[in-house]
Amino acid sequence: MIRSRIIATGSYLPERVLSNAELAAQVDTSDEWIVERTGIRQRHVAAEGEFTSDLATEAAKRAMARAGVVPGDIDLIVMATATPDQTFPAAATVVQMKIGIDDCVAFDVAAVCSGFLYALTVADAMLRTGVHRRALVIGAETFSRLLDWEDRGTCVLFGDGAGAVVMVAEEGAGTSADHGVLSSRLHADGRHNQLLFVDGGPGSTGTVGKLRMKGKEVFRHAVNNLSSVMHEALEAAQLSAADVDWVVPHQANLRILEATAKKLGLERDQLIVTVDSHANTSAASVPLALDVAVRDGRVRIGDVLLLEAMGGGFTWGAAVVRW
Ligand code: UT7
Repeated sequence: MIRSRIIATGSYLPERVLSNAELAAQVDTSDEWIVERTGIRQRHVAAEGEFTSDLATEAAKRAMARAGVVPGDIDLIVMATATPDQTFPAAATVVQMKIGIDDCVAFDVAAVCSGFLYALTVADAMLRTGVHRRALVIGAETFSRLLDWEDRGTCVLFGDGAGAVVMVAEEGAGTSADHGVLSSRLHADGRHNQLLFVDGGPGSTGTVGKLRMKGKEVFRHAVNNLSSVMHEALEAAQLSAADVDWVVPHQANLRILEATAKKLGLERDQLIVTVDSHANTSAASVPLALDVAVRDGRVRIGDVLLLEAMGGGFTWGAAVVRW
């Protein structure tokens, strides 16, 4: 059977780093509160004139260079973002143009913080049909542009960044010993739209709007939904938590990461944690964390990775990948 396999990763973070101390000078918060409640110490913020497509293009180019592929090799781009440069065209087509790919399939996926899991699942399905051979899957965001910088309940939580992977179709035996995406499971429950949303849009207010969140309620749902979908994805891959080498989680809050890992009986040091330095970069957070762990040598050939994310909608999902 055809499997989709991630052969390289890349990421990009804007140069400007915004510390908790700097935020404490603007809103009624403190470094102590932010670190204790979230684990976040700093975040990166895009420069004026630096767009989501710029971050995504840089991350994608780095992944392509590591994969040893040229623009003509890519026949599919699936990009997860809630902060495209414009309402349309799809940011994926802007990235396509900036990379210099003349023709391929390119579209965006809107699942907010779960976007990368959704994009990975869509790309996996398209590669397994045999129609596509090499895909770029990207998560990129400039959430700094959606924040109400006077709302201390949200402005301290998010950051900008991009992560990308190159995926290829390859022959597998159809067993859990294969390399590549072994399983993925996605969910959505629109009844919770009002717990995490943006209060504007092209079809309603005609404005971009600002992010609004009832953090405590999102937190509660996150731990339950994530641990249950992680179990589901493992079961679908015919593996158990004991087979997992690394959890590559969405980086919303260190307490969510730790509580979820604990529910699965996983150790703290099996978690890839970047929330301290990146904050919550929405769809970019999973591929950013993956790239960090691949580049620092933690993730090795044959390792079993459990990717997971949850976000606005609500949407949530998990995937099991053998490296
Ligand atoms: O990526 C999508 C998924 N998103 C998430 O998963 C986010 C999930 N939620 C969370 O991570 C947490 O709920 C937060 C970090 C957002 C908040 O932490 P919490 O422990 O749930 O705090 P809380 O909202 O219950 O607020 C506790 C107190 C409140 O004050 P009172 O009412 O107890 O006097 C808040 O007003 O902390 C206050 N507070 C702050 N204080 C200092 C809220 N934000 C801040 C702040 N600095 N930035």
